[in-house]
Amino acid sequence: MSAGILGMGKYIPKRIVTNTDLEKVMDTSDEWIRTRTGIEERRIADDETDTSDMAFSAAQKAIQNAGISARDIDLILVATVTPDQPFPTVACMLQEKLGARHIPAMDISAACSGFIYGMVTAKQFIDSDTYQHVLVVGVEKLSKITDWNDRSTAVLFGDAAAAAVLGPVTEGKGILSFELGADGSGGKYLYQKDRFLKMNGREVFKFAVRQMGESAVHVVEKAGLKKEEIDFLIPHQANIRIMEASRERLGIPEEKMIKTIHKYGNTSASSIPLALIDAVEEGKVRDGDLLVMVGFGGGLTWGALTLKW
Ligand code: ACO
Repeated sequence: MSAGILGMGKYIPKRIVTNTDLEKVMDTSDEWIRTRTGIEERRIADDETDTSDMAFSAAQKAIQNAGISARDIDLILVATVTPDQPFPTVACMLQEKLGARHIPAMDISAACSGFIYGMVTAKQFIDSDTYQHVLVVGVEKLSKITDWNDRSTAVLFGDAAAAAVLGPVTEGKGILSFELGADGSGGKYLYQKDRFLKMNGREVFKFAVRQMGESAVHVVEKAGLKKEEIDFLIPHQANIRIMEASRERLGIPEEKMIKTIHKYGNTSASSIPLALIDAVEEGKVRDGDLLVMVGFGGGLTWGALTLKW
């Protein structure tokens, strides 16, 4: 028995903000954003919809997709850096909204690596037979910490939620290997201050190119896999150039990388599960496929895993 994904669900805000829309409110251009980042549009949640509301919508769908009820959930983990408030956590709010039992619930703050941190944490409880069903949600309302006067960050982010129910799956399927890490000395390159997200884009870029590539290679080696066996790479959707660099480092062809950055921008903790859901819905990822997921984020943190779907 190993730990795998039993069901997934997403929430995407209705409002689409294109690069052309941004051109009207700041000194930027569609051409600059596309060529530097690969982003064409992003979704922005309305004022009435907070992080826990998005998490609730995605979680409901994931639970239904897994064929269980909210009362079957044994642990809730919510990866976010944009909670409704510092406490109570989004996870506790979600427990109440879902009508789950009085099970443990906590938020994980690891920025864009948060969903991988959550999956690996869930795996420990499932492998040890402590819990059967762990709900892991990646959710961000980054628009509420975006400084719309800072064009170097404002064009990059979007809002979204994606959830997965993890539980025991047939031996040989599920999570095969993982790697988690953090380097606190890089905290100065990406942080929140005075309400807003601040970033040294060049330093984050250099770190991400190196770490995403290395971690992806490490987890493939740890699982005893050859690169030819990998069906899809699902990298954190931060910047198409960073994603391409990790794909090249892994040595796999272009069509094996899942890309959603053009339509959602960088949605931090929800970006990897969101890309996976879309790939499954489009019929790209199929039963038995070998996936490599890799992310990096503020902290600085990183995480990667291999998963047999
Ligand atoms: N529109 C037009 N021009 C812009 C914009 C914009 N939106 N933003 C910056 N510029 C200008 C700059 O002012 C600069 O002009 P200058 O040369 O006259 O000074 C020029 O474009 C080049 O700027 P750079 O910062 O050198 O551009 P770069 O090629 O590094 O791309 C980017 C910037 C896209 C931010 C890149 O560095 C990057 O992707 N970094 C990583 C970001 C990332 O992945 N962050 C993850 C955060 S997720 C989380 O944890 C929440």
